[in-house]
Amino acid sequence: MPSETSEPSPAPARADLGKDEAAFVSAIRENRTSGTAATATLTTDDRVLARITDGIYRQPSSALRELISNAYDADATQVVIDTDAPRFRQIRIRDNGHGMDEDALGRMIYHIGGSSKRTTVGAKVGTTDAKDPTRSPNGRKLIGKIGIGLFSVSQLTSHFQIITKVAGSDHRLFADVVLRTYSESDEPSDGTFESGTVKVVSVPAEDLASHGTEIILLNVRPKAKDILRSKDRWENIFEQEGLPSAERDPGAVAPPWHIGFAETSSLDGEEAVSFRVPPSLPWDFDDPPQVRFEKLYQGVADQVGSTTERPDLAKTLDTYLGTIWALSLSAPIGYMGKHPFDLGADDNLLVFKLSNIGRGRADPVPLQPGQTVRQALGLKAGAEDPAGGFTVYIDQVELRRPISYQYWAAKKQGVSQPMLFVGSYKPDLSKVSKNIRGGNLAFEGYLFWNSRIVPKENNGILIRINGSSGALFDDTFMKYQVSEQTRLRQITSEIFVSEGLDAALNIDRESFNFAHSHYQIVSNWVHRALRQLANTHKGLGDDIRAGQKHIDRIAATDKLGRFAASTWARARSDQDEAPPEVEIVASPIEAAALRRSGVLALDMSQLPRLPALPARKAKDEAERRAQITKAIATVLDGFGLLQDMPYARQHELIGALLAVFFEDAQDE
Ligand SMILES: Nc1ncnc2c1ncn2[C@@H]1O[C@H](COP(=O)(O)OP(=O)(O)OP(=O)(O)O)[C@@H](O)[C@H]1O
Ligand SMILES: [Mg+2]
Repeated sequence: MPSETSEPSPAPARADLGKDEAAFVSAIRENRTSGTAATATLTTDDRVLARITDGIYRQPSSALRELISNAYDADATQVVIDTDAPRFRQIRIRDNGHGMDEDALGRMIYHIGGSSKRTTVGAKVGTTDAKDPTRSPNGRKLIGKIGIGLFSVSQLTSHFQIITKVAGSDHRLFADVVLRTYSESDEPSDGTFESGTVKVVSVPAEDLASHGTEIILLNVRPKAKDILRSKDRWENIFEQEGLPSAERDPGAVAPPWHIGFAETSSLDGEEAVSFRVPPSLPWDFDDPPQVRFEKLYQGVADQVGSTTERPDLAKTLDTYLGTIWALSLSAPIGYMGKHPFDLGADDNLLVFKLSNIGRGRADPVPLQPGQTVRQALGLKAGAEDPAGGFTVYIDQVELRRPISYQYWAAKKQGVSQPMLFVGSYKPDLSKVSKNIRGGNLAFEGYLFWNSRIVPKENNGILIRINGSSGALFDDTFMKYQVSEQTRLRQITSEIFVSEGLDAALNIDRESFNFAHSHYQIVSNWVHRALRQLANTHKGLGDDIRAGQKHIDRIAATDKLGRFAASTWARARSDQDEAPPEVEIVASPIEAAALRRSGVLALDMSQLPRLPALPARKAKDEAERRAQITKAIATVLDGFGLLQDMPYARQHELIGALLAVFFEDAQDE
């Protein structure tokens, strides 16, 4: 990768590339009158493009994420993605950013792996602020730095077009890019790799003021199309349909929300699409983009109580909706509701300030009426965007960060409000030797405790650098070693990095180099924060329990109940947690309502029935069986067996265990 800091403009590291680039740029300029295309061969002087085509980016969302990041870096305020769902033949991404002129386009083509961002060249080709190479012309902290993100589209297609225009120009540039698939045997002796060709033409434009870039991914690769269509999953379901019910894989069921399964056929040369499975979308056709996204989130949250305790995305959404979800987590956009730092006194939460050194209880932050967490603690992350806001639409859905700070009620003793732990850190690295320091580091962050985290995938920690993140929530909390099973499953956390850590990000932007000193510092801070959260939560729980002088539910129940409760407590490592209340109710609706408030509710109609007995006997027998059923549920829950099991399966399991004890409960 050429070093750019001391270069004159726009000279690359290799003289021959420089000549080609200059010739290419002037050929584009000339063809405005000649009408012929300027052609360039894409070459990389290391194996960068080869690795990208090899697939360092694994999901379709990775490529879209890179394109969204590029639009953000170009100061766009809006990105519109059209996926052509459910066919996915071609995908378009359009932004209203600065666009590219001839120089910028030439630079991009001749410097794969040598980004102009964060270098002095940036100001000359219009990718950076004139004074600060780490910022965009309008002042955003840049996401890009390597110069390969755009080529992540090679995972989706080998043929794409870029249509781009800068403000004031009387023409737009139209680039047609054809990539060549790399194979080891193609390796030439001089170490360069020919990776494709680019043809550029200029097209006159009357809309002088307009600016922006559109990228059209043509002929999406069959493999990528099948991933977006969830093809493997549907075919597995179709195969199971033919089997007798006893042989069916209980996991092979359609997710509640999906785009449907479409098949295309050719009729007299016309392509016809028919749905083998019609779409089941959480929103209505005429819902506006923002409502659509809220309904997607709600569609996931509504699984709590009706199908499973902790909805997980893989079971709830197909790949297409899952892709929308993943993008909404990674993009530098706003939250569904408020930014966590903009929560205030009216939002019903307990706020604490994290210490950068301590491990004890965190200090409470009393909020004045109308005051926000941001104001009380002077936080900057997620404040006003210098370029005027950033909105991303995908197929008429407006992406928002799918994280909610609403409390999920729990019928347990203890803390009954969510807790927000907030802190910021800018370590003094001046004493660290320069070659391992890796520049400055500064970040803000929060840990949000709730009685449950919905969906399950929001449990963990997510690290954003300059607003963007490639990785999803890490539920190991950067390899936290202390076993606090229950409490750790109740935390959503984000770290907003404003300076540093960049160098620890691997090239795929989806994982980190754990050995990097910045990563170590962040992870130590997070682990200290987790200790503070645990100590504060424990302490508060004790205070509340002492204050209420509550009667211990465990002591008050029968002998079997006490046995089940103490087994539960032994099975869990957290000694201060109490087992859930177990109730047996008569209807699924009642069960769903109780579950949403933290009760382990069983639906009588899904359990083996009692045999017909004389009235007096029947009452005692029913009571005895209810006690046994509750004890079984408590023990299973203690061992963590029920948590991620759909409710229907829980009933099957408990019913089967009852049948072991009661002959009359056995199915004939
Ligand atoms: N939507 C866009 N609008 C304007 N310029 C763009 C856009 N997309 C790409 N570019 C230009 O193409 C260049 C290459 O983009 P690419 O994503 O490959 O690299 P990068 O953003 O510089 O770095 P990184 O690999 O870290 O993302 C950018 O530096 C920018 O100049
Ligand atoms: Mg980029």
